[in-house]
Amino acid sequence: MKKTLTVVFSLAAAVLVAAPPKSTPEVLAKGKASYATNCVLCHGEKGDGNGPAGQAMNPKPRDFNAGQFKNGNTPEGIFKTLGEGLKDTAMVSFQHLSEEERWALAHYVNNTFAARKAPKK
Ligand code: HEC
Repeated sequence: MKKTLTVVFSLAAAVLVAAPPKSTPEVLAKGKASYATNCVLCHGEKGDGNGPAGQAMNPKPRDFNAGQFKNGNTPEGIFKTLGEGLKDTAMVSFQHLSEEERWALAHYVNNTFAARKAPKK
């Protein structure tokens, strides 16, 4: 029984990693709400890096509208940043948020701010 459970959980984990959630209106709404709570202070409402706390930072929070990301211009790249953070910057890891919430954020940032430059997904 125990072994079966282990197998079932491993398979579930593999499926979760292999299939990131698609960007639907519900996912984007969730990402938007989370962005307002967790990101606006630094990245700003327009995603331009001019949030109240962001202005004094060095390096400044990224201007998402430029669509240039160190970890790749994709939801996957943004998801990676949210899990790991960026070394030696104020961009810390957001691993404490659920995986679902991090995907919602990744899609929201990718579709809303970086939409013109990043490939649509
Ligand atoms: C305490 C301030 C702060 C908060 C809060 C913050 N960030 Fe950042 N973020 C930064 C800074 C500073 C950079 C730029 C780092 C650099 O230039 O290397 C950055 C960079 C990024 C990047 C660019 C990554 C890349 O691949 O180049 C993404 C995407 C990002 N943040 C997303 C988010 C999201 C989504 C949230 C909310 C969950 C968030 N950030 C919250 C400060 C913050």
